[in-house]
Amino acid sequence: MHHFQYRDNELYCEDVPVKKICEDVGTPLYLYSHATLTKHFRAFDGSFKDIRHLTCFSMKSNSNIAILRLFYNEGGGVDIVSGGELFRALKAGIDPSMVVYSGVGKTDEDMEYALKSGIMLFNVESRQELLRLNSIGERLNKSAPVSIRVNPDIDPMTHPYISTGLRENKFGIPIEDAPDIYRLAKGMRHIDIRGVSCHIGSQLTNVSPFVDALKRLLVLIEELRNNGITIEYLDIGGGLGITYSKESPPHPEEYAEAIKKEIKNDIILILEPGRVITGNAGILVTRVIYTKSIGQKNFIIVDGAMNDLMRPALYGSFHGIQPVIFSPDRKKLKADVVGPICESGDFLAKDREMYSFEPGEFMAVMSAGAYGFSMSSNYNSRPRPPEVLVKGDQYFIIRQRETYEDLIKGENIPDFLLK
Ligand code: LLP
Repeated sequence: MHHFQYRDNELYCEDVPVKKICEDVGTPLYLYSHATLTKHFRAFDGSFKDIRHLTCFSMKSNSNIAILRLFYNEGGGVDIVSGGELFRALKAGIDPSMVVYSGVGKTDEDMEYALKSGIMLFNVESRQELLRLNSIGERLNKSAPVSIRVNPDIDPMTHPYISTGLRENKFGIPIEDAPDIYRLAKGMRHIDIRGVSCHIGSQLTNVSPFVDALKRLLVLIEELRNNGITIEYLDIGGGLGITYSKESPPHPEEYAEAIKKEIKNDIILILEPGRVITGNAGILVTRVIYTKSIGQKNFIIVDGAMNDLMRPALYGSFHGIQPVIFSPDRKKLKADVVGPICESGDFLAKDREMYSFEPGEFMAVMSAGAYGFSMSSNYNSRPRPPEVLVKGDQYFIIRQRETYEDLIKGENIPDFLLK
C-alpha cells in the first residue's frame, strides 16, 4: 500500500494534489511520500525486531540526503558502494559506524576515505582487494573491519542484469574459495574479520533463493568458527522485490520469517534492502507535450525521458502509467509513452494498453522511487528533475531542478581554443 491515491478522480500524494505540485514546481519531477517511506521502512525493519539486526538501507536505490536522514531517524544504517555514497551518507548525518561498504572495485582512495571515516564493515570482494585494504590499514595504522562477500552460486531467478549471486557474475568470492580467503585474512595485521556477507540479486519475487543462499552461508560460518575464526555479523544483502505490475513478491514479514527460521541468536544480521522500501514510495510526474499516430502506432510524447528514468530503456521494465486527473469517459488505447531524447530506446512505456492523454495533461509514472533519480543522467543536456517530498499536507523540495549552468559546471575551454 502506498499513499498515491485518487480522491474525486484526482491523484494525491498523501494530502497534497499532485497537480498542485506540478504547477508550482514544474515537470518532470520526482515525488516521494514520507508516510509511505516510513511505513515501508518500519514494515521491513520491524519484521526483524525480535532478533539482533541492523537494516542498512541500500542507498544506490535512492541517495537523496533527506531520504537517507529519514531512515537514519528510524534507526537504519546504510549500504554504500562508492566514496560518493559515503560522502552523501556523512552529509546526511549518518553515524559511520552504521555504514557497510560493498563493491567489486573499491579504489585506494575509496578505502582510505572509508577507513578514516570509521565505517562499520568493508564487504571485501576479492583476494586483491583484501591485500590492498590490509596495506592501506598498515599505512594509516588502523585495522579494517571486514566481511568477505561470498558468492553462493544461487540463481535468483530475476533479470540477468540484476543477478549477482551466480558463479558467472563478477561479485564476491566463490563460496568454495572462502575458507582460504578467511585463513589469509586471519593472518593479516590490519584486517579484523567480523562477518560474512552476500547479495544474490535484486527484484526477487520468491523467498526460496534467499533461503538457499542463507543455508550455504550458515554451513560456511560453522566451518569458519570451527577453525577459530570469529564471525559476529551475517549480511544477507538486499533484493526483495516489489509489485510493478502483476508480480506478487513475499511481504517483508514472510521474508523475515523464512530467514529467522534458519538463524540462531549467535549472530547479528545485517540487511541491505533498497527497492522494497523506496520503489513504491515514489513516482515520476511528467507532462504530455504532443500526441501523434503513425499508422497503427500511437505515441504520447512527454517531457520526462530515459535520462530521468532509465529502467524501461535499460531493462525493459514496466512502470504503471496513470493520469493525474482521471476522467471516467477517458478513451483507452495502445500507445508508447516516449520522451524527447534522440534515441528509439527513449520510452517510459511500450505498446501499453492505457488511457488516452491530451497535450498539457500530467501523467504519473508509478513505482519510480528506487533506481529512478539515482540512475538519472544529463543525456541530451537535460537538467535533472527536482525531487519533492510530501508529508501530510505539506511538500518540501529536497533537490532543486538543475539549471543550464549546472550542466556545464566544471567544464572549461582551454585558451588555445579561444581565438
Ligand atoms: N546490496 C547490494 C550489495 C546490492 O548490490 C544491491 C543492489 C542491494 C543491496 C539492494 O538491492 P535491492 O534491495 O534494491 O533489490 N538498477 C537496477 C537494480 C540494481 C541493483 C544493484 N544492487 C534496477 O533498476 O532494477
